[in-house]
Amino acid sequence: MPELAYINGDVMPIENAMIPIEDRGNQFGDAVYEVIASRNGRLFCMEEHLNRLERSMRALSLPVIPRDTIEQAILNLFGQAQIPRAALYIQISRGVSPRNHGYPENPCPMFIMTIRPVKDMPESCRTEGVGVITVPDTRWGRCDIKTVQLLPNIMAKQRAIESGAADAIFISADGIAREGTSSNLFVVRNNRLITHPLTPEILRGITRIVILDLCKSLNIPVEERRFHQRELFLADEVFFTGTISEVLPIVRIDGKTVGNGRVGPISSRLYQMLLKKMSD
Ligand SMILES: Cc1ncc(COP(=O)(O)O)c(C=O)c1O
Repeated sequence: MPELAYINGDVMPIENAMIPIEDRGNQFGDAVYEVIASRNGRLFCMEEHLNRLERSMRALSLPVIPRDTIEQAILNLFGQAQIPRAALYIQISRGVSPRNHGYPENPCPMFIMTIRPVKDMPESCRTEGVGVITVPDTRWGRCDIKTVQLLPNIMAKQRAIESGAADAIFISADGIAREGTSSNLFVVRNNRLITHPLTPEILRGITRIVILDLCKSLNIPVEERRFHQRELFLADEVFFTGTISEVLPIVRIDGKTVGNGRVGPISSRLYQMLLKKMSD
C-alpha cells in the first residue's frame, strides 16, 4: 500500500514529491482542493466531488482542467496505490509565476494529489460521541468555495485539541451556528433535523447532501435554516458530517451536555446507513 503523490501527470512516492517555491497555492493560498475517501476499495461520491471542484475552480477563475483529465488521473492514482480505505487529496492552484498579487496572464495550473490510508477515529467516538468547543467564525465570506486558505479552521481545531475537545463549531458574530472546522453541523429536535442552508457562509458538504437524501428516504423532516447556538442546547442530538468524520455524534459542547449525553438514535441510524451506502 504505497503512499503516493501526483504532480501534473507524474506519480511518485509521497516523500519524493516537491513543488516549486513560487507556486501560487503556496504563496497566496490561490488554490482549491477536494478530499475523496474510499471504503472497501471504492471511491465514494466521486462525481459530486468533481462537480464541487469544478465549481470552486470557476469561482476563482482558475484555468479549468478538463474533467476527463482529472477523473483519469484520480482513477490511475487510486489504482496504483491499492489502498482500500484511502483519503485522496486533490489540489489545483493557479500555478507557478513570479510573486505578484495580480493573476499571471497565461496561468498553467498546478494539479497535485496525494493518497494515504485514512486514520479512522476510535470506534468509541461513534458509540460514545465526542466533546466540541465553540469558536467565533473569523473566516472570509466565501466559505462555499473549497480553497486551501484554512488558517481559521486549523487554528480552531488546534484550540479544540488544546482544550481536550475533538473539534470546534464556528459561531457567527450574531450567534448563528455555522459548521465545524472540516464538517457540516446538524441538530435533531423532536425527530426533525435542522442544518444551515447552502449560503456562502458554509461549505456545500457532499456528506451533507447524502445525509439529506437518506433523511428523505426515512421520512425524517429536515429544516435547512439558520439556527442560533442556543438551539444546540435544546437539541436531542447534535452531529457533524464530513468525508472523513462521516457522521460524528456530539455529546458535549463547551463542557455542557447535549440532550441526554448519549449518542442518539437518529445519528446512529444515519451513520449505519452512510456506511452501508459507502460499501454498496
Ligand atoms: C469547512 C467544512 N465544512 C464541511 C465539510 C464537509 O464536507 P464534505 O462532506 O464534502 O467532506 C468540510 C470538509 O472538508 C469542510 O472543510
